[in-house]
Amino acid sequence: MLKRFQEALDQRKEAGILRTLKPELTGIDFFSNDYLGLARNEKFQFKLLQLVQENPKLLTGSSGSRLISGNSSTVTEVENYVAGQHHYPEALLFYSGYNANLALFSALPDRHDTIIVDENIHRSVHDACKMSYAKKIKFRHNDLEDLENILKKQVATCYIAIESLYSMDGDLAPILDIAALAKKYNAALIVDEAHAFGVFGYGLIEKYQLQEDVFAAVITYGKALGVHGAAILCNETVKSYLVNFASPFIYTTAAQDFLWVSIKTGYEFIKQRPELENKLSQNIKIFRNQNIETPSSEISPIQAIIIPDNHQLKALQETLSAKDFLTYAVYSPAVKSGTERLRICLHSFNTEEEILEMTAIIRRFV
Ligand SMILES: Cc1ncc(COP(=O)(O)O)c(C=O)c1O
Repeated sequence: MLKRFQEALDQRKEAGILRTLKPELTGIDFFSNDYLGLARNEKFQFKLLQLVQENPKLLTGSSGSRLISGNSSTVTEVENYVAGQHHYPEALLFYSGYNANLALFSALPDRHDTIIVDENIHRSVHDACKMSYAKKIKFRHNDLEDLENILKKQVATCYIAIESLYSMDGDLAPILDIAALAKKYNAALIVDEAHAFGVFGYGLIEKYQLQEDVFAAVITYGKALGVHGAAILCNETVKSYLVNFASPFIYTTAAQDFLWVSIKTGYEFIKQRPELENKLSQNIKIFRNQNIETPSSEISPIQAIIIPDNHQLKALQETLSAKDFLTYAVYSPAVKSGTERLRICLHSFNTEEEILEMTAIIRRFV
């Protein structure tokens, strides 16, 4: 058994793509999902500290599953708050987006149903599909024609899974067109807003007022909100169904109240500081003005620079790192082979100088 493991690891090492856990990195952050800088914001940190000092019980465990002893009044209150903020009837909170996606796609579709996923959908959705008895079909990334061709052929109930802003390509889904197709073919549209929340207000569903057309949404709090956790936004029936049938919700100890309180505090914090989102979009413009070739959207904080040669990609990332610029080189199988890339994340706190210096180095390699 170990021999097989070692061979697989050796293969990765040879290809230059062995994953290892590195010591905590310090430098200029162009790789984290902390788009609005909340995870490093001292005012936010002190606000959370104050809440803990007033009520230290927030920090200790919840003592059980939400269905037994873990359903505190705090989690219920925050769920109502989140649902209200997003104009959905209900919200169900989780301690990670990964778990929220596992819950949704493992529980809702049954053995007669079909889950149609964008080929670039997050790994958590693929893993969830493995837990489901439903059939999974992929459609070409953001390709409406391909999606419609697939929908036309289905007789079963269909779920469509998309992200509003894709985490590896940094491009937006044609969400209005996909919502129209879902309506036309009576399919349930599920949208993961992990990277759009906080970057485009509360996300694209809120922006385009698609609450009626999007069957369920996933919002995550480990990115722009600088904390942890996730919410599924849905109606009463779907929430009740998940509470009854979603294993990732039922068979785990609820998070401590600190998590739920930090989520609500995060919403209040960003609502009072629209300048964070504005500063982020200014920084995105500065980056885009450097004319580096990318398939990413011009308004996305995630900018991908495709470099299929692993060694060249590694060299670029290491050169940047030697100058203190922290970026993320993404290799296959995290992305399709031939589309390996340097993934740059822009933030509200990056300076113009940093962006210009980094792009000058990148330009030498592409
Ligand atoms: C699109 C998308 N969905 C879900 C997740 C999982 O969220 P979390 O990190 O909260 O588990 C991520 C994070 O990697 C993501 O990028």
